[in-house]
Amino acid sequence: MDEKKLAHLALKAQSRAYAPYSHFQVGAALACADGRIYTGANIENGAFSPSCCAERTAFYQAVLDGQRSFAAIAIAGGPGGSAPAFCAPCGVCRQVMREFCGENFVILLARQDGMIRRFTLAQLLPESFTLTEAAPDHPSSF
Ligand code: THU
Repeated sequence: MDEKKLAHLALKAQSRAYAPYSHFQVGAALACADGRIYTGANIENGAFSPSCCAERTAFYQAVLDGQRSFAAIAIAGGPGGSAPAFCAPCGVCRQVMREFCGENFVILLARQDGMIRRFTLAQLLPESFTLTEAAPDHPSSF
């Protein structure tokens, strides 16, 4: 998986955001284990709480497409589609990543000047909760 390419795709995906309220455009590029890449951008809503982050729009598109195994996600965000600073994923998105990814899942934060910060999910969401691990004897419905 080419991390520079993934970062570039996240920066590019910012232009797809629907962010008329915050004007903070976030882009994400999610690399699946099979090499396919899904991009996402934040989609806001006038009622605010239905808004969805870039990371989740990418994940949900991929999951709906049958993907279940993921290698890495790149994220870029900033006002008006710029990315002058690193944009870390919110807590809700970190938990969504944990639903589908293990602790070695790679999270890349991309800046418009080409700088990239690299984390694992274990670093950004330590001691995380998953229902499958917390309730291993639960009926096999999940
Ligand atoms: N946002 C994301 O898309 N991803 C994050 O991880 C943090 C925040 C979006 C949500 C909202 O549309 C805008 O950025 C400002 O919070």
